[in-house]
Amino acid sequence: MVKKIGVLTSGGDAPGMNAAIRAVTRVAIDQGIEVYGIYDGYKGLVEGDIHRLTHNDVSNILSRGGTILGSARLPEFKEERVRKQAIANLEKLGIEAVVVIGGDGTYQGALCLTQMGINCIAIPGTIDNDISSTDETIGFNTALNTVVDAVDKLRDTSTSHHRCAIVEVMGNHCGDLALYAGIACGAEIVITNETGFDEEYVLTQLQEFARKHKRLALVLISEKITDVESFARKVSTYTDFSGRATILGHIQRGGIPTSRDRILASEMGEKAVELLMDGQGGKCVGIIDGEITAMDIEKALAIPRKSRRDLQVLFDRLV
Ligand code: F6P
Repeated sequence: MVKKIGVLTSGGDAPGMNAAIRAVTRVAIDQGIEVYGIYDGYKGLVEGDIHRLTHNDVSNILSRGGTILGSARLPEFKEERVRKQAIANLEKLGIEAVVVIGGDGTYQGALCLTQMGINCIAIPGTIDNDISSTDETIGFNTALNTVVDAVDKLRDTSTSHHRCAIVEVMGNHCGDLALYAGIACGAEIVITNETGFDEEYVLTQLQEFARKHKRLALVLISEKITDVESFARKVSTYTDFSGRATILGHIQRGGIPTSRDRILASEMGEKAVELLMDGQGGKCVGIIDGEITAMDIEKALAIPRKSRRDLQVLFDRLV
């Protein structure tokens, strides 16, 4: 049976990652397994920044955002030469398996390491909710609540000033944060990669809202679609609303994790350790229809992004 495992967080941090680290550490220690924290993701693995974690090292972290292990993006990890260095560092300490917490880039790294002989289990930790092998990723629920809180505030000031608030939210290329927040906040328009962006059409829609004497308009738009500052100026020019852009940015990545994210992370952490104890590797954990699941990373990465057509239809009906 596996005797020593490592745990790391990689890619963009997400609220709830600490709960996952805590669960991996405590479940493993409870089963007589030594746990090592690998700092700053794959970077720390390559540089040998690896230290033993005790039960107490993960005390008082459940309610903290971010990740106590730190995170980084390391594109060089795609190179075999770099991964060989990482494996040498693990072998030096006798670490036989690793739990990695992060997004799809992190999954790729875990798959490569497994193919090179180190069993890895991936846990989905990203605010983007862009991993198709799970219904929800750790951090999405907290980030969604952060967006909703911010947009509720923008509603207040936009109503007072008869304005159109254009709010850019994160998500990488996934529209879930924008769409779910749009439903929760009662936005007028949601723009995602899935809806597409026809600027002229959106301006016409907004003018129609203004003509109907709506006091405000909330537009939620996923990042990387358009320059929201320039779009806000067009709203002021071509409609009877005054347009104001807000980019929520990295605010969305911080904050106290919701209980939902903490519980999800705890369940996934437990499952990851169980899989390693069972001698499995190259798997990723998920939640599907309320059940904690495991699937081959290779298969998970090949699943196309889920369509949110049904939710988009709901959104349209509610406007
Ligand atoms: O993947 C999480 C995420 O916050 C994305 O939503 C965003 O596109 C990206 O990371 C930002 O990355 P960085 O923090 O490296 O600027």
